[in-house]
Amino acid sequence: MTTPSVRPARRPDAAATPTAPASVATGRATGKAILIGEHAVVYGRPAIALPLAALAVQATATRTEGPSRIRSALFSGRLDAVPARLLPTAKAITATLDALGHPHLGVDLQIQSEIPAERGVGSSAAVAAAVVRAVAALVGATLSGDEEHALIQQAERVAHTAPSGLDSHAVRARGPLWFGNGVVEPVAVGRPLSLIVADTGVAGRTREAVAGVAERRRTDPAVVDAAIDRLGALTDDARTLLAAGDLDGLGAVMTRAHELLGGLGVGDPALDRLVAAATRAGALGAKLTGGGRGGCALILVRDLDHAADVAGSLRAAGAAATWTTTVEATP
Ligand code: PMV
Repeated sequence: MTTPSVRPARRPDAAATPTAPASVATGRATGKAILIGEHAVVYGRPAIALPLAALAVQATATRTEGPSRIRSALFSGRLDAVPARLLPTAKAITATLDALGHPHLGVDLQIQSEIPAERGVGSSAAVAAAVVRAVAALVGATLSGDEEHALIQQAERVAHTAPSGLDSHAVRARGPLWFGNGVVEPVAVGRPLSLIVADTGVAGRTREAVAGVAERRRTDPAVVDAAIDRLGALTDDARTLLAAGDLDGLGAVMTRAHELLGGLGVGDPALDRLVAAATRAGALGAKLTGGGRGGCALILVRDLDHAADVAGSLRAAGAAATWTTTVEATP
């Protein structure tokens, strides 16, 4: 069981932008949580995501004469022998080297990540982002945000067949992001937010959850489309409530979104237990975050003192780990 780490939100480090090739270079990114809009975003509705400064990943790229290698908690060995789980990471390396005109450069890539994998908090996109940044810095290239995004998406397409792109943006963001209608933009925040991410300990199954919603939509289009519309409308409401600093209203919208997502078949008893425990402990709102069917719950609380109380209740209710993060009000 992990002790909750309470850290104020901070700005993730910008991509390294050296002016000359280096022999060693690093890249960083953070995890992310979807505040609202998951699944509906797959059907063109908006979503709001936020970076999780408490969960960071660093990639360190070193030039090597031999074949490229990866060193991580999951696997250490040659790039051409990575297990399936690391294929997206391998893709991030090769796609970046190819795009920057160094397809044959030998790279030793070390990954140090605090982000739990397969929990809906952006591990795959964050690792890809850190890798893209480290490899680009190693060869002395400065990538634009769009170029970074395109390379991360190449890795994300290996991880999840048709990623919406939300994660690729959120793991590099400095604050909450609105994502919809082809627009990605910062969201106004009227009052600081204190949030807990609580891990069920059950691996999330995003790909199956997305496929499950698609299947339900084929068999029951009216019901599923109504839920997707409602989630879209709740995301619009959440944006207004965030800007107004109405945390009670925002919490109520989050809990309603959790119920709708359960109705779409992407819930899980372990998630429901955490949402119920958070509600009993006085949380303003709670919902699953990310693909669902396991993974993490996101809980809005009044402040950091309240977060400590609620996190204790969540762990007593079976959370495998909790992380607390804050979102600053925008000027
Ligand atoms: O489980 P995650 O963190 O990869 O989030 C998936 C979010 C979905 O809306 C379900 C899918 C997507 O591609 O946006």
